[in-house]
Amino acid sequence: MYLLNSFTVKSMTQRNRIVMPPMCMYSAGTDGIANEFHFTHYTSRAVGGVGLIIMEATGVLPWGRISDHCLGLWNDEQAEALKPIVTACQKQGAKVAIQLNHAGRKCEAQEKIIEAPSAIPFSQESPMPREMKEEDIRETVNAFRSSAERAAKIGFDAIEIHGAHGYLISEFLSPLTNHRTDSYGGSTENRCRILIEILKAIHEVWPAEKPVLLRVSAEDYEPNGMHMEEMSKIIKLVKPYIDVLDVSTGGVVSTPPSKIYPGYQVKIAEQLKQACDLPVVTVGLITDPHQVEEILGEERADLVALGRELLRDPYWVLHTARNMEVEYPWPEQYRRGFQARK
Ligand SMILES: Cc1cc2nc3c(=O)[nH]c(=O)nc-3n(C[C@H](O)[C@H](O)[C@H](O)COP(=O)(O)O)c2cc1C
Repeated sequence: MYLLNSFTVKSMTQRNRIVMPPMCMYSAGTDGIANEFHFTHYTSRAVGGVGLIIMEATGVLPWGRISDHCLGLWNDEQAEALKPIVTACQKQGAKVAIQLNHAGRKCEAQEKIIEAPSAIPFSQESPMPREMKEEDIRETVNAFRSSAERAAKIGFDAIEIHGAHGYLISEFLSPLTNHRTDSYGGSTENRCRILIEILKAIHEVWPAEKPVLLRVSAEDYEPNGMHMEEMSKIIKLVKPYIDVLDVSTGGVVSTPPSKIYPGYQVKIAEQLKQACDLPVVTVGLITDPHQVEEILGEERADLVALGRELLRDPYWVLHTARNMEVEYPWPEQYRRGFQARK
């Protein structure tokens, strides 16, 4: 089965093509520190056979969290709590990445500072963000660098920058949310500037042999917003700094996807893979192993992420191999589960 084939990027070899995409669990304390829930949650998917676990959006600054209960990585205490989770997942054969995020105008944590490229609220109910000054941008870039340094020390196998779903980086990228007139707004190159600065800063501290993933929203579902063509231009600009592209859509404004069906984002991932010649992760209502086989067999994507399906079934990979009658190593401790009853 294609989905059980290994995948190598830089020094990281995943045991199979299945990715757990980042999913906020809103279960940390207000200090952003991981706890026993996170340990159980992530190690369950590692025991269940997932190839690459991308940990949920983790704030690089207190006001970069999406909620009061998101994970953070702006201090060493937060890093210490993540380390045993990462090590335990790796012992179970999974590779582990962390998604670093700044929530921008979509920060719902009880923070006084809400920042965005431009002073435009997400909705009528959302707080008015303050337009970031150059010093705020510098602080943000430095925060991504410091968090990446902590992620490296923890021993993560990969790092993912959250450039999707209308959080800060994606707010800078999209013309809908970036109305700046300085060097961070206007042209595609200018809107991409903060992302390039963040990626460059990360490379100062992130091990050269380990991969960097970038998640993007390649479509805003609004005529004047981001579309595949412009995103492909952006990816070409950042290509020297990334190894894998994780393709999502939407979230910059509240407009929902124009059509939703199983695999609704595969086509755009495939287009970006072809246009930019980078390995891609595709995601979005993918639940069926046959569907995964079609995507991988046709080389429409290199990796397939199952979000809500892995919430429902942490053992999806093991169950799939068993249902397909393919021999696949279950954890040693569970061998007895396959032996005939005496
Ligand atoms: C509970 C939940 C939390 C999520 N949190 C994040 C997140 O932290 N970062 C992110 O990039 N996407 C997040 N997403 C989006 C998922 O990564 C994924 O792209 C989306 O669920 C579509 O995949 P699916 O149809 O397989 O669930 C979240 C989705 C869910 C359901």
